[in-house]
Amino acid sequence: MTKVNVKDIDWNNLGFEYMDLPYRFTSHFKNGEWQDAGLVEDSTLHISEASPVLHYGQAVFEGMKAYRTPEDKVQLFRPDQNAARMKKSCERLLMPAFPEDQFVEAVKSVVKANIDFVPPYGTGATLYLRPLMIGTGSTIGVHPADEYIFTIFAMPVGNYFKGGLSPVNFITSDYDRAAHRGTGQSKVGGNYAASLLPGDEAHKQGFADCVYLDPVEHRKIEEVGSANFFGITKNNIFRTPKSPSILPSITKYSLLWLAENRLGLKAEEADVFVDQLDDYKEAGACGTAAVISPIGGLQHNGKLHVFYSETEVGPITSKLFETLTGIQFGTVEAPEGWVQTVE
Ligand SMILES: Cc1ncc(COP(=O)(O)O)c(C=O)c1O
Repeated sequence: MTKVNVKDIDWNNLGFEYMDLPYRFTSHFKNGEWQDAGLVEDSTLHISEASPVLHYGQAVFEGMKAYRTPEDKVQLFRPDQNAARMKKSCERLLMPAFPEDQFVEAVKSVVKANIDFVPPYGTGATLYLRPLMIGTGSTIGVHPADEYIFTIFAMPVGNYFKGGLSPVNFITSDYDRAAHRGTGQSKVGGNYAASLLPGDEAHKQGFADCVYLDPVEHRKIEEVGSANFFGITKNNIFRTPKSPSILPSITKYSLLWLAENRLGLKAEEADVFVDQLDDYKEAGACGTAAVISPIGGLQHNGKLHVFYSETEVGPITSKLFETLTGIQFGTVEAPEGWVQTVE
C-alpha cells in the first residue's frame, strides 16, 4: 500500500474512496484482555485463515466524522454515541467491547495523528473514521473467536452533494434487510453483505438505492439503503419509523431532537405505512454519509410517489440539514455534549 501524500489531495473533488493515511489505531484482544493499544503505520491486517470473521462474519464497525470549523478547530460529532452503539453491536455478536471511554480517546488520537488530512472548512469535506472490530485467532468451529483486532482508520471524504442538496429517487425492495429479532439493530458486516444485491438491483433500475419494508408484512418503511427514513407530515410532524430491525441512526436521533427543540415540530418514532405516503409533504434519508438525502420520489408497486418535488428540496428538510451541518461544522450552537473538540 502506498501512503497518500496530503499535497496530492483535491479537497473539492473527494469522493468516498479509501486512502492509506499515515496512522491508524489498533489494539489486540488476547488472553481475555485488550492489549498493545496505540497508533501504527501499517495498514495491512495479518490474520489466520481460520479467523471467525472470514467464515462466520464476526465483524462490527462504526462510521463517524471529524469536522474542521471556521476557527480551524477540529471536532467530533457525538462520538460517545458511536462508542455506545459499537458496544451493543459487540454484545449481539458475542465480541468483547472495547471500553467506551477509551474508544473516544482512540478516535481522537487517530484524528490528531492525521490532522493535516482533516479537510479545510468550506469544502464540505470531512475526515471519515471507520472503527472496526473482527474476530481472529484460529477457532474454525462456529464459536466466538478467542482473539480480536480493533482498529480505527481514517480517510478524507467529499461533500456528498457537491452542487448543493438535491433530491434523489428510491424504490422499495422485495428483499428484506434484516429480521425483527435478527441483527438489524447492530452494525454488523453481514447486514451489509445482504444488502448488496437489493442495492444493485435498485441502481440498475436507475434509483439511488432501495427502501426496505418491514420483514413481516411489507407494509411499513424500515430503512433507506444504509440510512434511516424520515417524513414530514402535512400537519408538521417529523416522523421516523420505529422498528426492531433498523439501525438506530445517530443522525436520526439528532434530527428528532432538533425538529422538536429547534424547529418547533412534533417529532415521533412511529409506523410509516407505504400505502399512506400522501400524508407526507417531505421525506428524506439520514445518516453520517450524506447527513440528509432529500427523497424526491419513492417507487412502489410500479408507481412513483413524489413527496415535495423531484428537483427541489422542501423547506423543512433544508432547515434540518442546515441546522445539523451547522452544528457539526461549528457554526450553529450545539446542544450540550454533542460536539467534542480534538485537542
Ligand atoms: C443500515 C444503516 N442505517 C442507518 C445508518 C445511519 O446511521 P448514522 O446516522 O449513525 O450514521 C447507517 C450508517 O450510516 C446504516 O449503515
